[in-house]
Amino acid sequence: MSKFMEWVDARFPATKMWEDHLSKYYAPKNFNFFYFFGSLALLVLVNQIVTGVWLTMSFTPSAEEAFASVEYIMRDVEHGWILRYLHSTGASAFFIVVYLHMFRGLLYGSYQKPRELVWIFGMLIYLLLMAEAFMGYLLPWGQMSYWGAQVIISLFGAIPVIGGDLTQWIRGDYLISGITLNRFFALHVVALPIVILGLVVLHILALHEVGSNNPDGVDIKKKKDENGIPLDGIAFHPYYSVKDLVGVVVFLFIFCFIVFFFPEMGGYFLEKPNFEQANPFKTPEHIAPVWYFTPFYAILRAVPDKLLGVIAMGAAIAVLFVLPWLDRSPVKSMRYKGWLSKIWLVLFCVSFVILGVLGVLAPTPGRTLLSQVCTALYFAYFILMPFYTRMEKTKPVPERVTG
Ligand code: HEM
Repeated sequence: MSKFMEWVDARFPATKMWEDHLSKYYAPKNFNFFYFFGSLALLVLVNQIVTGVWLTMSFTPSAEEAFASVEYIMRDVEHGWILRYLHSTGASAFFIVVYLHMFRGLLYGSYQKPRELVWIFGMLIYLLLMAEAFMGYLLPWGQMSYWGAQVIISLFGAIPVIGGDLTQWIRGDYLISGITLNRFFALHVVALPIVILGLVVLHILALHEVGSNNPDGVDIKKKKDENGIPLDGIAFHPYYSVKDLVGVVVFLFIFCFIVFFFPEMGGYFLEKPNFEQANPFKTPEHIAPVWYFTPFYAILRAVPDKLLGVIAMGAAIAVLFVLPWLDRSPVKSMRYKGWLSKIWLVLFCVSFVILGVLGVLAPTPGRTLLSQVCTALYFAYFILMPFYTRMEKTKPVPERVTG
């Protein structure tokens, strides 16, 4: 084996890569619950790719046959039902895992210097993940696939001058048709997954260049032993590879439980109108996107003007990109930030969840008002951040990580 590895290493840096990223990558020893979600995101990504490839083998991307081919997968293809449910539940699981992964970043200031690029690559992944999920949702060609896409694509029509042409260019037709389905299929199964995979590699390379943050926000590289190994660092492999495996097992228990017993999740993971084939002549009574888009959908609806609504929705995502430059705190972790940062983070998370709930419900005057308040709080968290992070009194950060 070692002779073989010598042969390989003389031609390809296999051992070097193994050491740099696993056996000699020293991660802080105080990782907690929130640090499971990076490796879980990788797991779900692999699940989506593998089940997606198998679904593609039996799916027909045409307006005439797409809906029936999904039924065929569910009823006739051997184990087709489980492949489909793993993929559809996997989409929601992806967003749950990624939202918790991002929340960890907010909690421990993982986006702060020197991890700005880790965060930016993460945000690009998030953006593409939303595009990937949106295009995937059109493929089963159900009522909600069709009308959801109709609502979202028509938003581009609000852009002055080019809006009309742009929507037509996206659809490839005067209305959503088999042509739209075909191009979304190509983007969903080939183009976007390749770019997402590439970005995940860049995300991890950027992280390993500077090293992981941790719940204390302490830079472990400042205190090293005589061999240059951080005193508070432990080798990723075997210590965290084994720990992450525990997270994987727990996650798979919950994930399989949902796949086997609640794959539709009461209409949240697979919406009820989508069990009916797309019909361009029949608008569903109530159109709502899948749950992971609803906070942004609620922001869109909170603004009375269509164009301003679209701008607000875009800004709600865009502002996350500049987060590393909004936080002026001298400390990273919420453990040592002042109470203003803590209150704003709570307000932000509560608003995000309330917006998510409101985005599922049909609007009423009361709900619209609440969504306006939550939208204001959502943006205030970011806009006021340069001020409250500089004003507040922080606690002293310890020299070494705390347990
Ligand atoms: C496919 C999606 C993603 C995958 C597979 C992924 C994977 C990973 C992995 C494996 C790590 C190292 C382990 C860990 O710290 O948990 C990590 C760290 C990190 N990720 Fe992601 N990630 C994804 C999306 C995102 C998104 C959307 C963001 C934020 C916008 C993000 C921000 C970060 C940050 C800031 C870190 C460093 C955390 C720290 O050191 O405290 N990631 N990611």
